[in-house]
Amino acid sequence: MQKLKVAVVGAGLYGRNHLNAYTWNPNAELVAVCDKNKQITDAVERDYKVATYNDVDEMLDSMDIDAVSVATPDPYHKEPVLSAIHHGKDVLVEKPLATSSEDAYEIIDAAKEAHVRVMVDYHKRWDPASIAVKNKLMDKSTGAPIRGYMRMDNIYDVALCWLKWAADSSPVHFVGTHCYDLIRYYMNCDVTEVYAVGHKGILQSKGVDTWDTITANLTFENGCTWTVENAWILPNGFAKADDGCTEILCENEMIRVDSQKRGVEFFDDQKQTTPNVCFIQNANGRPMGFGIEPLNDFVDCILNDKPFYADLNDGLEAELIAEAVHKSASIHQAVKIERRK
Ligand SMILES: NC(=O)c1ccc[n+]([C@@H]2O[C@H](COP(=O)([O-])OP(=O)(O)OC[C@H]3O[C@@H](n4cnc5c(N)ncnc54)[C@H](O)[C@@H]3O)[C@@H](O)[C@H]2O)c1
Repeated sequence: MQKLKVAVVGAGLYGRNHLNAYTWNPNAELVAVCDKNKQITDAVERDYKVATYNDVDEMLDSMDIDAVSVATPDPYHKEPVLSAIHHGKDVLVEKPLATSSEDAYEIIDAAKEAHVRVMVDYHKRWDPASIAVKNKLMDKSTGAPIRGYMRMDNIYDVALCWLKWAADSSPVHFVGTHCYDLIRYYMNCDVTEVYAVGHKGILQSKGVDTWDTITANLTFENGCTWTVENAWILPNGFAKADDGCTEILCENEMIRVDSQKRGVEFFDDQKQTTPNVCFIQNANGRPMGFGIEPLNDFVDCILNDKPFYADLNDGLEAELIAEAVHKSASIHQAVKIERRK
């Protein structure tokens, strides 16, 4: 089989996982990497022996590339995604698709015009726990889902140290959209209305102007209502960089998932840590886990002309919810989801 020639744009914290996935995928060839930061491209050239660029268009004009994988910061997906689309390349873009519905629609229109496909990396769909929940809900024994609760939070350091661009994103865009996507996947329908409340001030006082936490109530077309909580102010002493749980009350059964209970705990004199062993592990250098599987599926879906598991419409719907949640938390009123006709 012909290998898929993939280029990665954005080789920061998460982009490195893209590089590792394509390096190890037997059906892919990592042919080029672009990052605006020359220190990063110098390090990538050294570690991966691959052609590097600091400008996306220059890379796309000079290299033979089949598909582009974008891992730039949340608010800066549009520019490289549109460049790739305009060059006729299929694209995988990190979540969220965009940080405004206007940008999401612009990407959708451009992809349609150029006849290319775009996948959004909502990797929580590949988590074995999510797959078990989805399969359970498809098994009619649960009866109708009536009420749901999902929480996904990060420690302070994510907003204050890890993401230099945190002020241009929010806990809603960074982890909330994961929740909205996963719940849509579980419910198999869309959100009609949201009501949200939030808190600002703690991160602002530390120099990052964004929400500390937002709680959103989502009403789905099937009548199920969900409460979703996302915060960026978990204490840094927490056992993992993120925390989360899900509870779904159905007509006949209840489902509960605790993201802390992955079965592995480490202890030292200072702290207990609970690694998410299912997410990304390196087995003698080879990356594996539900953070890697979507990137492998991207390659497989293009080479074998299969539909993506999380596509442009999924990216748009998560962003429409995120936008309505921010708006509702700001105006203290319920907000209906408005879709373009
Ligand atoms: N950090 C995580 O744990 C994590 C997990 C899952 C998904 N993600 C997603 O991955 C994306 C990237 O996050 P990150 O944490 O790696 O951010 P990061 O800041 O560590 O890396 C982003 C990189 O993109 C580069 N960049 C920015 N604009 C560019 C452009 N136009 N062309 C080329 N390079 C450009 C930056 O120089 C930087 O090196 C985000 O959308 C994020 O939500 C991050």
